[in-house]
Amino acid sequence: VSDSEATSRAFYARLGADGLAGRTRPEWDAQIVAALVELLPATARVLDAGCGYGRVALPLARAGYDVEGLDHSEPLLDAARRAADAARLPARFTRGSLTRLPYESGSFDAAICLWSSFHELLEPDAQTHAIRELSRVLRPGGFGLIEGAPYDEPSENEIATGARRGPENRVVWGHVEGLLNPHFAHDETSLCRLCEAAGVERFQVFERDWGGRQRLFLRIGERGPAA
Ligand SMILES: C[S@@+](CC[C@H](N)C(=O)[O-])C[C@H]1O[C@@H](n2cnc3c(N)ncnc32)[C@H](O)[C@@H]1O
Repeated sequence: VSDSEATSRAFYARLGADGLAGRTRPEWDAQIVAALVELLPATARVLDAGCGYGRVALPLARAGYDVEGLDHSEPLLDAARRAADAARLPARFTRGSLTRLPYESGSFDAAICLWSSFHELLEPDAQTHAIRELSRVLRPGGFGLIEGAPYDEPSENEIATGARRGPENRVVWGHVEGLLNPHFAHDETSLCRLCEAAGVERFQVFERDWGGRQRLFLRIGERGPAA
């Protein structure tokens, strides 16, 4: 477990599923699920890597997809499993790390990693492992989709105060409700570098509107309609 994974787990243990759910809105979530349904082939087997409390995994299961959720936060997984049981949805939720996916190679049509789950990995080595893993579990012709906040330039004050630190000042030392929740500020340069290190040759980096805000995407696999 990397330092950043321990920080992330501690953050979500304190924030909880309700605290995380309070940071989104049903209409944004519905737009995101609708966008995914447009991208996903009918009956696709989908991995939601960093699934949280199942914000996206549960509606995808309801829409008929075969969904696996993976997360390293036990409280969030508990919430996802309880919601799946209550709604009698067949989605499965497993505890694990983005850097070591407990699935066979080539077992998913799509692997999604949304709402900055990937960006909580702060170490470039761990990021490379995660990209390699997301690519490994895709079937031929499948695609991976990583989504997070677009890059913003650090100010001199942010660097001086340590609000931006780490490699190329890309670590955003952010807080949510007083709890430490750092993120890595990726852009096309950092994502291309990671794909190269991970040996992933087919990928695209692009920005698009997603649930009402502009977001940065890495799509692994063949070129798709999202770009
Ligand atoms: C902001 S939440 C987003 C949850 C979900 N993707 C969504 O769109 O609702 C970030 C999630 O990523 C998970 N996460 C962060 N780093 C992870 C890692 N290295 N391995 C597994 N899960 C991770 C956290 O536990 C948390 O559930």
